[in-house]
Amino acid sequence: MHKNDINFTNKIVWITGASSGIGEALAVLLAQKKAKLILTARRAEALEALAQNLHTAVKILAADLCATDFQNLTKEALESFGTIDMVIHAAGIGQRSLAVETPLTVYRRLMEINFFAPVAITGYLLPVCKAHMVVIGSMSGLMGFPGRTGYAASKHALKGYFETLQVEQEVPVTIVSPGRVQTNLSLSALTADGTPHGVMDEAQVKGIPVMECATRILKGVAMQKKHVIIARKEKYLYWLHWWWPKAYFKVAGKYSFTQGK
Ligand SMILES: NC(=O)c1ccc[n+]([C@@H]2O[C@H](COP(=O)([O-])OP(=O)(O)OC[C@H]3O[C@@H](n4cnc5c(N)ncnc54)[C@H](OP(=O)(O)O)[C@@H]3O)[C@@H](O)[C@H]2O)c1
Repeated sequence: MHKNDINFTNKIVWITGASSGIGEALAVLLAQKKAKLILTARRAEALEALAQNLHTAVKILAADLCATDFQNLTKEALESFGTIDMVIHAAGIGQRSLAVETPLTVYRRLMEINFFAPVAITGYLLPVCKAHMVVIGSMSGLMGFPGRTGYAASKHALKGYFETLQVEQEVPVTIVSPGRVQTNLSLSALTADGTPHGVMDEAQVKGIPVMECATRILKGVAMQKKHVIIARKEKYLYWLHWWWPKAYFKVAGKYSFTQGK
């Protein structure tokens, strides 16, 4: 550990999307490091079950981030332990539908949860506390991928907002861009009619183990990195995107938009 690295002991960390996947794994690791946690997601019972195994101070703030009073939610979060040192914006939803079949309602839902929710929370916190913002973006926030028009748009928008916040130097910001991680993201991903995909895509199953991803996120955050990329094959696609765009369009276009391989 470097002498300037963040020590998480007694830090007050608000995690959205804490009921499963990357958010849940980060809650487990941060509890081991003795951080105090505020946990948000829709499923209160999943958050309660998680909290029982964390052995640290936990406040549960269940909310649907598509339809909540963000001013009130942020106030409640601030009142939980008196201040907030860090927010991890992990709540999110995926997509499995081609542009040609996707209605605006699906795009709006993706933007509400993946983009407007973190922006609303950040907007209410900025004037009152200087919390470190950790944003779970995606490799789809750096390039396009079949079947992800709305998802990629929401993650590009997220990166645009938080990168600009980094330039404004108001608060520390770490943007995380993971490739495929072993979570339920593909199960809940929105299809063209707005229902969940309900399938664990093969590429999702073969993704980076969620604990490895969470460990690498915390390492990057502790080192106060501005951007952390955690990816396998997607890194090569991104490399092509930069250095050989013609090849990127050819290769990316061949991926199955459901299986992602
Ligand atoms: N897994 C990957 O391959 C991957 C890759 C790149 C980026 N990411 C990003 O990582 C983040 C976490 O996803 P994950 O992979 O861990 O998937 P996950 O296991 O499905 O977790 C998603 C989390 O978001 C919460 N959530 C979804 N809709 C919500 C809403 N309307 N209101 C409040 N909370 C909501 C879910 O909780 P409830 O259902 O209880 O509300 C859950 O806790 C997402 O932003 C995702 O885009 C994932």
